Amino acid sequence: AHVWRGIVREYRDRLPFDESDQVVTLGEGGTPLVYAGSISSEVGAEVFVKVEGMNPTGSFKDRGMTAAMTQVVKSGDHTVVCASTGNTSASAAAYAAHAGLTCVVMIPQGKIAAGKMAQAIVHGARLVQVDGNFDECLDIVRALSEEYPVALVNSVNPFRLQGQKTAAFEIVDQLGDAPDIHMLPVGNAGNISAYWMGFREYAESGPATRTPRIWGVQAEGAAPFVAGHPIKDPETVATAIRIGKPASWDLAIAARDDSGGWIRAVSDTEILAAQQRLAADVGVFVEPASAAPIAGLLAAAAKGEVPRGATITCTVTGNGLKDTATALAGHEVEPVVIPVDVEAAAQALGL
Ligand code: F0G
Repeated sequence: AHVWRGIVREYRDRLPFDESDQVVTLGEGGTPLVYAGSISSEVGAEVFVKVEGMNPTGSFKDRGMTAAMTQVVKSGDHTVVCASTGNTSASAAAYAAHAGLTCVVMIPQGKIAAGKMAQAIVHGARLVQVDGNFDECLDIVRALSEEYPVALVNSVNPFRLQGQKTAAFEIVDQLGDAPDIHMLPVGNAGNISAYWMGFREYAESGPATRTPRIWGVQAEGAAPFVAGHPIKDPETVATAIRIGKPASWDLAIAARDDSGGWIRAVSDTEILAAQQRLAADVGVFVEPASAAPIAGLLAAAAKGEVPRGATITCTVTGNGLKDTATALAGHEVEPVVIPVDVEAAAQALGL
């Protein structure tokens, strides 16, 4: 049986590392591509979800972090820093712990999900909460990394995108060719840029015969690409993508335009409905930001814009267990308590 060795070792020939580099890995990548039957029937296409919540810290950030941390160790730095809406900090904290590095994370106060906060704490990161949003946190850590001996591990670090492009390789490896359309949520815009790089590289060198159209989805209250300019006070229930001034602006525009795709917005209500739908009908529990592409796909289908029979892959970026409070907010749970008795159980279930 093939044993998965993490994305740096699996795809080393396509990454900027050699055999002699000491790899910082938690075994990330190799995530499932799951067929979404009920959604496929509704939209009239073949829809698959790339379940990135299966990564070691529960999000796609781990692909970028193994590459960034491997480079940090190679350069001899001892401290890493990042701004985060929660997942980058969770991932940076875990990989830094594994590599024996100090990790500093800067997060918008009160705006990150409890599970992500717990991850940064238990992995021993130095946590700084900022009375500001993600964009302002990123401005601070960029300045810090220019003036002090700390390595920046946000996606403006090019090694992050190198690692994250491997998800596109896996999708092609799993399907046998590129999909017709690839969808994903867009926040700071690193991931859309990384996927486009990965799909292009695989088409240029053989494994894929073509590149997909890239359809990006933002939250309505945090949709700078839809507005065409940065947004000052982004707001959305999908805290992971509560971002108004994406760092990889030009790369994301290139991914959209060169692929013949689009970037659109969906409402928080549509996001939460898509999250429930994916959990209840497909069996995949994702965090709100990850449901944005599903919401965008359902909206496009409602307008008759999904090509019949197309193969569509959607990256669902983070695990639902990171933010159970938001997922349960719409549920009235009436707990049924019974004595230890089979008859009572049967009665409670109406059997
Ligand atoms: N989905 C999730 C679950 C995320 O955590 C993020 C970004 C995105 C989508 C958007 O990806 O920024 O590459 O466009 N989270 C970052 C963080 C900003 O700090 O964890 P992007």
